[in-house]
Amino acid sequence: MLQADGITYEIETPDGPLKLLDNVSFNVPRGHFMAIVGPSGCGKTTLLKAIAGMIAETDGRFFWNGHDLAEEDFEPSEIGFVPQFSIAYDQLSVDENVESAARLRCRFDSVDDLDESIDNALEVTGMEGIADRDVKILSGGQKRRLALAMELVSNPRLLICDEVTSGLDPRSEHDIVDLLHEISRSEGRIVISVTHSLSHLDRYDSILVMHQGCVAYHGSPKTMLHYFGVSSLEEIYPKLQDREGPSWCRSWGKHRDSYYSRLEQEREKKILSGELPDPDAVRSLPEPEKAPEEPGPEKGDAVRSESGKAASAEGRGGSPEAAAEAIPEVPGFFTQFFCLLGRRWRIFFRDRSQLVLQLVMVLLFPVLVAMFTDKGTGQIVGLSATQDVQTIQKDMEAQQLNMKTGSAVSGIIMFEVILLGLMGSNNAAREVAGERAIMEKEKYAGMRPSAYLGSKLAYLSVLVLVQSVWMFAFVDFFWDRGGGLTHLLFLILADAAMTFVCLGISSLARSADQASLLSIYLVGFQLPLSGAVLALPEQVEGFIRPFISAYWAWSGSISALKSDVYNAVKNVLDTDLTPALVCYIVLGVHVACGIAASYAGIRRSRWEL
Ligand SMILES: Nc1ncnc2c1ncn2[C@@H]1O[C@H](COP(=O)(O)OP(=O)(O)OP(=O)(O)O)[C@@H](O)[C@H]1O
Ligand SMILES: [Mg+2]
Repeated sequence: MLQADGITYEIETPDGPLKLLDNVSFNVPRGHFMAIVGPSGCGKTTLLKAIAGMIAETDGRFFWNGHDLAEEDFEPSEIGFVPQFSIAYDQLSVDENVESAARLRCRFDSVDDLDESIDNALEVTGMEGIADRDVKILSGGQKRRLALAMELVSNPRLLICDEVTSGLDPRSEHDIVDLLHEISRSEGRIVISVTHSLSHLDRYDSILVMHQGCVAYHGSPKTMLHYFGVSSLEEIYPKLQDREGPSWCRSWGKHRDSYYSRLEQEREKKILSGELPDPDAVRSLPEPEKAPEEPGPEKGDAVRSESGKAASAEGRGGSPEAAAEAIPEVPGFFTQFFCLLGRRWRIFFRDRSQLVLQLVMVLLFPVLVAMFTDKGTGQIVGLSATQDVQTIQKDMEAQQLNMKTGSAVSGIIMFEVILLGLMGSNNAAREVAGERAIMEKEKYAGMRPSAYLGSKLAYLSVLVLVQSVWMFAFVDFFWDRGGGLTHLLFLILADAAMTFVCLGISSLARSADQASLLSIYLVGFQLPLSGAVLALPEQVEGFIRPFISAYWAWSGSISALKSDVYNAVKNVLDTDLTPALVCYIVLGVHVACGIAASYAGIRRSRWEL
């Protein structure tokens, strides 16, 4: 049973506080299929988010099987949420998307159990015939079915859907409503569906009509026309506009009991006719399994996440309604980590444009650097101490040659570092921001932010290693620059620092475009602010330098050169060089800050997306 008791959600606006939900109350029994309808902007999605705990109600309480949800949240697998946006990866097949949903959400004793759960979800949603089809070629209706299948793998007790039928043709809409109806009929599941469409309302057990954040009606579809005093459903929305939301709310408060008793009578009839399962029979089922021993997943900063999740399973064990509910356990860190990592690599190899871009960068950038290496291969000549005219003349020529070689060496090293920075930013700029909505959804369903971050770090580290080792090896083939492994380490760190800082940006950004833009600016400013071309004014140098990873990788690499080359480079620079050890430390700090920012951004809930 889901109960809302006086739910109010208020936000601050420049014109003062605004109630998006105003004293919303309703009861929904087990095995119930409810529609939420109302004009655009009346608060339907806001109500769903409040039920799901994605926003914190300002006032009022939700109760789930008698337990206050403010004190003990839903278990991740107890609730399924089907948002309007697509939550599947286009590059994967239907089967692969459902499989990853299952492996991230539920712990299975065997592969057979996993397969059974996937097959069952595909069968219920009628997707088994197109299980191997790629998501990108699915129709709108098939995508909605897939979203439902991905929720059903964890067998949620409460399924909430936001406009899953919008944009579909009448036939597909009818099929999806039928499917939701069927889903609500199994295992006492509650299905709540927000819809704009007033067709098929007779398929629902009850309709909740909202207006300006208030409940204007909640009862049987059969009594709705009578309540509003209209002769057709189409007249209801115009009728709502006759009065303000609170006025409808007051009227509903006066009539609610009689409509609820009518609803109860209908429910009893459905139980007698066998359309709904008998709640007494459900109650006599055995006790659920005990709560998982290991701590549950971190659920980001979702508003109800901290409220006694550990206590919840135990607390519900004693409830008669919960007795029938063996809530699936969330899988462990490593199961989620390997599932996410495997999926990331699969997407990498399927995404042709990304793959080609990576290959072009990895193969072409070292060639670009190698083109300039002959300029850095000049002999460094020692200068004479004698002062005769001929020697002075020779010394001047040698000095010019040394300067040319010195600035070429400095330039080539900076070129390597900047190109690796560019690859780093391309690696990570969209990594989290580009799939934020999917990630939020998966976090909500029980995915650990740490497992997600871990999979990103593992995936990106491989890219960083391939890019920087190949850059080093290829350029090294043409140019014995000296510095050896130290230089390689600085190249790895330069790429890693930019990759993980951009991952941090991607995790904190509001959109993928914003993350890309910020990351490109970050790379673009590396060269001018590194001091390798022009020394920075002293007043800004101390302030800016710590943030410029290219400077530290460049400076560290130069410090490790053979002493005569080092001196030749130093002679042409206005900018101070820093000892290699300090450069290691600063780049290490960049990497650590990038990872910390990524974790903070991944944990944070961003449902407004
Ligand atoms: N974060 C927010 N800040 C300000 N206003 C908001 C915010 N979120 C929602 N609103 C406003 O609250 C109202 C209800 O929004 P909601 O998305 O719940 O409507 P809805 O009934 O789902 O509409 P639709 O049918 O168009 O999807 C709208 O007027 C919307 O502009
Ligand atoms: Mg909406």
